[in-house]
Amino acid sequence: MSTPILTAVAWPYANGPRHIGHVSGFGVPSDVFSRYMRMAGHDVLMVSGTDEHGTAIQVQADKEGLTPRQTADKYHRVIAEDLQALGCSYDLYTRTTTLNHRAVVQELFGALHANGYLVAQKEMGAISPSTGRTLPDRYIEGTCPHCSYDGARGDQCDNCGRQLDPIDLLNPRSRINGEVPEFRETEHFFLDLPAVADALGEWLQTRTDWRPNVMKFSQNLLEELRPRAITRDLDWGVPIPLEEWRDAPMKRIYVWFDAVIGYLSAAVEWARRSGDPDAWKHWWANQDARSYYFMGKDNITFHSVIWPGILLGANGQGAHGGKPSRFGPLDLPTEVVSSEYLTMSGSKLASSRGHVIYVRDFLREFGPDALRYFIAVAGPENQDADFTWDEFVRRVNFELANEWGNLVNRSISMAHKNVGAIPAAGELTEPDLALLNASQEAFGTVGDLWGRCKFKAATSEVMRIVGLANKYLSDQQPWKLKDDPQRRDTVLYVALQVVADCNALFTPLLPHASQKVFEALGGSGIWAALPELAEVSEEGNDDYSVLRGDYVNQQAVWASRPLVAGTPLTKPSPIFAKLDDKLGETGPEWAPIA
Ligand code: MF3
Ligand code: ZN
Repeated sequence: MSTPILTAVAWPYANGPRHIGHVSGFGVPSDVFSRYMRMAGHDVLMVSGTDEHGTAIQVQADKEGLTPRQTADKYHRVIAEDLQALGCSYDLYTRTTTLNHRAVVQELFGALHANGYLVAQKEMGAISPSTGRTLPDRYIEGTCPHCSYDGARGDQCDNCGRQLDPIDLLNPRSRINGEVPEFRETEHFFLDLPAVADALGEWLQTRTDWRPNVMKFSQNLLEELRPRAITRDLDWGVPIPLEEWRDAPMKRIYVWFDAVIGYLSAAVEWARRSGDPDAWKHWWANQDARSYYFMGKDNITFHSVIWPGILLGANGQGAHGGKPSRFGPLDLPTEVVSSEYLTMSGSKLASSRGHVIYVRDFLREFGPDALRYFIAVAGPENQDADFTWDEFVRRVNFELANEWGNLVNRSISMAHKNVGAIPAAGELTEPDLALLNASQEAFGTVGDLWGRCKFKAATSEVMRIVGLANKYLSDQQPWKLKDDPQRRDTVLYVALQVVADCNALFTPLLPHASQKVFEALGGSGIWAALPELAEVSEEGNDDYSVLRGDYVNQQAVWASRPLVAGTPLTKPSPIFAKLDDKLGETGPEWAPIA
């Protein structure tokens, strides 16, 4: 049965290029999952975009002497290009500065307000004494009142995970210039989270198959729910859609409230662009639909509490009751799939300290599939993981190149040299059948693992079959079978069929390489579709670029497909180049090991 699957991918901030830690959290996992689901015949809608409002962008704009809009334009472009180069198969990758997004955000804000889940309240807000501007939560640092961690931020303590307000911090200081913020009274809208607490608890109890650390973290958050400010003193963001507030120059909707709504607004934009404006309902208002949200762990709060809380209130399903927004009742997340952190040589990746590997630099030198492979096999799936050049070289050389690349290369080369085509098989022996069965069975086990986001286990299982195939070749020694061409051809046929199977099994993870292997096996046309960067327009707005693609018209399906004897083969070229061992000791020129 084909299930509608919404893949909701965290929206990267438009305040700089993304590094490999970012894409290990949201980018690669969401794409592998979506590609598998499409191959398995499901109806995938994968959406995201650039998160362009709020202070992160404002602060970067000030640094570069640009306006926030110019900064957003610049980094939206850079990030979209990087995600394209990584092969991320978004059905729509858009941005939060579209008029469509603004309208959807204002609609949900209005519904929450009408239903009584938003209350205006005066609070003490932090102001920078030197500029007179609001000092945003994230830019205030101090000691956590709960766990005494000294690096807590105004919005959240990364040590104990609790949500904070800046005024709770002990010994607060500005992360921009170190000054002590001044607290002044200011009025904001608060989302009444306690009013949706029971509904959130019930929903969370019905969730299954979440990663245990994500579930535990989310359950803890429910214990201490309190109203949360969702507006800010700022002039860069979505205006508040209420009479007295609409034109207030320094009041905007909080960036996180606006960004999570992007999952809905992007689906709405996608539907409009597809020619059927109601098509988004297939993923959003459908009992059979499932939704999977991909992110790094610092985003969990917003996806397992705030976003479902917004949805419940806008649906009229909390303690205050109410009517659904004009979108009707919307579905809550099925699963929040969060990764842990990727560190580099033992410490946190940080653009500000230059301790960073940008996606762009990495892809230029090593291509997308090597990075995708590393993230799947050694990334922060269930615990923090460390990137080192040494380990990267080992994984590429010993696993991708020696095991998988070599199996592809030697089996196709031998068949090409001896037969010039996919050989016809004679009678199959025990070892032939054992290997063919193993690779066929892997479609069940590996498919289950990709679909449940168990990327490490899925990769090892495909590699295990690759290992069996390499052993089969060493045992059968087709190169010694000159006098028995029929047996030789049978062995080569079996090897090639297993190469084709493993290539399908690897396709969600290695879309670029799998296209090449498909062609090397005599296939033509598109095996694994890649995203395109397209320029689109919106009435009343400047043109902008989006990622999209036609992933339905691709040949990759989740099944073992018999090769056709007689299909011509050409001489293959290696798909994975081996890296110089020295790279492991020195790092590349652009990121030398200190
Ligand atoms: N921009 C945020 C970050 O980079 C992620 C936003 S995800 C969404 O951490 F929920 F807002 F979409
Ligand atoms: Zn703390």
